Amino acid sequence: MTVEPSLFRVVYVSRSLLPEPAAGTELERILARARRGNAARGITGALLFSEDCFAQALEGPAPAVEEVFEAIQCDPRHADVVVLEAAPVAAREFGAWSMAYAGRSRQAGARFSALAGAGPGEAATAAGRVLGLLRAVVDRRAGAQGPAAAVPA
Ligand SMILES: Cc1cc2nc3c(=O)[nH]c(=O)nc-3n(C[C@H](O)[C@H](O)[C@H](O)COP(=O)(O)O)c2cc1C
Repeated sequence: MTVEPSLFRVVYVSRSLLPEPAAGTELERILARARRGNAARGITGALLFSEDCFAQALEGPAPAVEEVFEAIQCDPRHADVVVLEAAPVAAREFGAWSMAYAGRSRQAGARFSALAGAGPGEAATAAGRVLGLLRAVVDRRAGAQGPAAAVPA
């Protein structure tokens, strides 16, 4: 495992404001932008989109993650951003992906929309659950469809 100093991770959930039926196209745009920006900054992560929620993990050098997350928070394509984790970490969870797309998942949406209401004491547990969910979906897609499903960093 490569040890990286000052590795930082942000995990959040938010409510999508992408209007159907164009949501898929707009999502492609977000992903293309994310992969370009993240690769240039040494950021990796995963994004999950459900009917009306996003869940995202971003990890990388602290200043880069803070800069990108600042822009993401101001993005009018979503609202009600709830930060579940913002902390230094020892290692990357999604080191192979500039932004793995964990897809549009109805089941996942139902599971993590409930997490958006997590109180302060529950945030750590919620972050762990969202990370686990992202990891599981990314691993399943990468295994089933090959690396094209989750574009490498
Ligand atoms: C749900 C969501 C996730 C995003 N994730 C990323 C990301 O991981 N990296 C990134 O650079 N931009 C991401 N964006 C886009 C940024 O919010 C923003 O549009 C972009 O960084 C602005 O860059 P620009 O002003 O240089 O065009 C995301 C946007 C949304 C709505």
